[in-house]
Order: sequence, then C-alpha cells, then structure tokens
Amino acid sequence: MSNYTGKFITFEGSEGCGKSTQTQLLADHLKSLGVSVRLFREPGGVVISEKVRAILLDKAHAEMNRECETLLYMAARAQLVEEVVMPQLEAGAVLLCDRFLDSTVAYQGYGCGVDIEMIRTIGAFATRGIKPDLTFLLDLAVEEGLRRRGGNLDRIELRSLEYHNRVRQGYLDIARKEPGRVVVIDGRQSREEIFAIIKQKVEPLLPAA
Ligand SMILES: Nc1ncnc2c1ncn2[C@@H]1O[C@H](COP(=O)(O)OP(=O)(O)O)[C@@H](O)[C@H]1O
Ligand SMILES: [Mg+2]
Repeated sequence: MSNYTGKFITFEGSEGCGKSTQTQLLADHLKSLGVSVRLFREPGGVVISEKVRAILLDKAHAEMNRECETLLYMAARAQLVEEVVMPQLEAGAVLLCDRFLDSTVAYQGYGCGVDIEMIRTIGAFATRGIKPDLTFLLDLAVEEGLRRRGGNLDRIELRSLEYHNRVRQGYLDIARKEPGRVVVIDGRQSREEIFAIIKQKVEPLLPAA
C-alpha cells in the first residue's frame, strides 16, 4: 500500500534512550502547528494489541520461546496496522509510532537470533508492506539507558547487557542499510538538542500550510 497521503514516522532505540520523550515533544509541536497527528506505542495502541503487550512483557512468562515472542509482536502489530495505521495514513494524518518493525528485527533478530529474513517476511504480512517514511534511531549506551529507565524492569528489559548490546548494534546495522529512512541521533545530547534535529528532519514531510 503506497497511495496514502499521511506520513508515518517511527522512533526506535533501546530502553531509556528517549523515545517516549521525543514522540511526545513532536506530537505536541505538530498539534501546535495545527497538523492532524496521532501517537501510538508498540506493542499496543489498540485494545487487542495492549492485551498482547501484557502477555509479552509479563515477567512470569520466562519460558516464552523466541518464535512465540516474535509472532506475538507481529500479531500486536497486525492489529494496530489494521485499526490505526492504515486508516490514519489514508486520512492524511501524521502518525507517530514509538517502536515498529525495526524493533522486532533488532530485539528478536539481532538480540535473540531469529532469522532476520523470516522476520522481514512475516513483517511484510503483518504490516501489509507499510513502511515508515522516516525513522529516528536514538542511539545510547545500554548502561546509560537502563540507568535512565530506572524502576521496575519488564521481561525484555531484564535481559543481559550482552543481549541489549546486540540489540543496539542491530539497530545501527539497520540504519547503515537504510540511510535514506533511518536517521541516527546521538542520545547523549540534551532533550532540546535532539528535538531540534527531529524537527528539522520532519519539516519537509509536513503538508504545506
Ligand atoms: N536527552 C535526554 N537526556 C537525559 N535524560 C533524558 C533525555 N531524554 C529523556 N530522558 C529521561 O530518560 C528517561 C527515559 O526516557 P524515555 O523517553 O522514557 O525513553 P524510552 O521511551 O526510549 O524508554 C526519562 O526519565 C526521561 O525523562
Ligand atoms: Mg518509552
């Protein structure tokens, strides 16, 4: 599907890198400009997908295997795409998503060793081939992200530093392969510095006022 008028912008990166902070800043900024904007997070965003999220992040589910994990992320995504992503893009909105398919490639592919071509094949099925127009990768050292994150860690966050470092390197690899879509931003910068970069990259995508 490529004949929609909206724009799809995703935010990626490890725990605590600043995705929620920056998606909220961008959503508020776009609203203040009068742009029709919607903000969602993955896994979740709609009723069924939030239920799948609860299964995925539950610390009690230590025995969940990587195939089950991969397919549950895809199941949550498929429902979000149907209920939100497709209709919003068709309606011409700017859709911001806190994580999308790149997260599954990074966490289950690079992190857990699931075959990446398989993830891309199932991903195309779940997303109906919809790809973000623009993706921001907030890159930050794993230790710093987990320190910022603080508090109670979920099932995925509790994995080892080595795991999270594979995820980080995976993200950087994705960005190297798709430089036209993925903008890598050094997450050590201040919120304001990061947001200035994001604003500048998003501006050309906006509908003319
Ligand atoms: N650029 C930044 N510098 C320092 N701390 C930040 C920055 N951006 C966000 N934070 C803080 O770090 C924590 C994690 O940020 P958050 O946006 O929730 O990350 P994520 O959604 O990627 O896990 C929050 O407490 C947030 O206020
Ligand atoms: Mg967040």
